[in-house]
Amino acid sequence: MRFMIKKFYKKEINKILLTLKNDGIVLIDNLKSKNDIIRLSKKIGRIYFHPHSNHNGITYINNKGIDNRRVDSGFKNNKLLLHTDRGITEGGKPPKYLILYCRTQSRKGGENILSDGYKFIKSIKKYKYLYNYLRNNNKLIYNNGIEIYKKSIIKKIKQNYILRIYLDKRVVKNSLFYKNIKLISHILYSHSVKIKLKKNQAIILNNWRWIHGRDSFYGNREILRILIK
Ligand SMILES: [Fe+2]
Repeated sequence: MRFMIKKFYKKEINKILLTLKNDGIVLIDNLKSKNDIIRLSKKIGRIYFHPHSNHNGITYINNKGIDNRRVDSGFKNNKLLLHTDRGITEGGKPPKYLILYCRTQSRKGGENILSDGYKFIKSIKKYKYLYNYLRNNNKLIYNNGIEIYKKSIIKKIKQNYILRIYLDKRVVKNSLFYKNIKLISHILYSHSVKIKLKKNQAIILNNWRWIHGRDSFYGNREILRILIK
């Protein structure tokens, strides 16, 4: 669903919130500046301050040439596999929304890959053993070198789910998740869309539902990220 915000009227914001509730994803055109994006974020919820963000809660995602061996190598021009932002920190309750605002898009590459986690859940339920495992709270599945994560990948809260998915180096090699990573990746990518943000466009995702990644890119690209609780 696509919107253009003109004056930040309550009616405009309500439409966005309703779409986020139903679809978990919104594309917004024609945001003029980083102030617009901060203003919009505050209408949606409370800004979450990421260790990489500035005092406004903005993280500037561009090619800083940071060592690719790091797990969170978003600050290079490499491909990023599907993941949930802050999925294994915050006691397993990641920020609910993620906004990506495009300031400069690369000419080649840089598409965002977005996978609908609810469709993933529906598909993975057919593999009962795997679904039960992903719902299990006591399996060691991720280890990011700092923290060991022993919570379920899929958590149900009332009628909603929180997904905490990583397909990268964090996955512990002897886990059932790793043994099935080809199947899991296949299902996730089969429910994914690719979006190449244009300058002044933003995408808002329900970070509990949509799993995101990025294609590698060449040249300048700068995305501003804000996480919202
Ligand atoms: Fe991310």
